[in-house]
Amino acid sequence: MRRCLGCNMKNIYVRILLFLLWAVTVAILSTSFAVAYIILPSISKRACHHPSHRHYHCWRQAKYNTKLYTSQEDDNSIQTSSSQQQSSVLDSISYRKVNENDIPTCFRIEFTSYPLDESASIDNLYYRQRVAGDYFWIATLPTNIANEYITKQSTDTDEDTTIIGYICSTRCNEFVEESMSTHDANGSILAIHSVVVDEPYRRMGVASAMMQNYLKEMIPFSSFNANTRESGFERILLLAKAHLLGFYVDNGFMVLRPSPIVHGSDTWYELEARQYHRFECKP
Ligand SMILES: CC(C)(COP(=O)(O)OP(=O)(O)OC[C@H]1O[C@@H](n2cnc3c(N)ncnc32)[C@H](O)[C@@H]1OP(=O)(O)O)[C@@H](O)C(=O)NCCC(=O)NCCS
Repeated sequence: MRRCLGCNMKNIYVRILLFLLWAVTVAILSTSFAVAYIILPSISKRACHHPSHRHYHCWRQAKYNTKLYTSQEDDNSIQTSSSQQQSSVLDSISYRKVNENDIPTCFRIEFTSYPLDESASIDNLYYRQRVAGDYFWIATLPTNIANEYITKQSTDTDEDTTIIGYICSTRCNEFVEESMSTHDANGSILAIHSVVVDEPYRRMGVASAMMQNYLKEMIPFSSFNANTRESGFERILLLAKAHLLGFYVDNGFMVLRPSPIVHGSDTWYELEARQYHRFECKP
């Protein structure tokens, strides 16, 4: 059956309309795809170069090897600047024995770093400072350098330095839970209770540097002191959770055994400083 001219014309218009509809749909779909997968990710990568992000966030990301950047050039410059920052921090650390005025800051760091049931009380820190001050060492940074790592300027300053971490211990003859709140000046064991770095300064090697310095500073206390008539300690022990065993082994400790001390729900391990360990000679 033959169609009339009018019907043919209508057919052509319908086809043109359908084609236009298809073209518009394709255009909308490809624009959405481009926005979702190409434009937005590249904007967020660029946002990471913003000075306020770059300083801390990007440095951490680069350190954890997260590939946020597409160009090798960017990767290299971030890694170089992070290692420069890291060595500037490590080169600028000073160590000294704690004094009474430092305790509120030490307590703030302790309180914000350990779970509530594991952190020492402020009274306990004052006690350790008062009776075992020789074994309580803090790490400080010049405040202008320390302030580069925090958004809110620090009030934890002693003149122009800022406390960024500390290690404290007491002596005992048997390493049990009570050792944390007692001190025997002639105890044969130096029990380390806190190794702590304030959060903004972590993963830059501060705790490792602090521990190396601490083990060195403890050498005189491991032999008899003619002035105080105190005998030297024979061993340095500490307790750590499983995730930090690698940190301590890298810093001169050996893992002895799971500790019989129960503290919270996690298993604790007893470690000993290799440098001070004296192997018993059995007859
Ligand atoms: C544990 C702590 C002291 C580490 O301080 P830090 O200055 O970040 O340590 P460092 O930068 O010297 O770490 C050196 C290495 O130890 C290991 N390490 C450090 N912190 C770690 C953690 N939380 N988990 C697993 N491994 C860790 C890593 O291998 C790290 O090297 P990397 O940064 O190249 O990966 C710090 O995270 C802290 O104060 N935590 C809260 C208190 C605490 O748990 N203290 C230990 C009590 S036993």
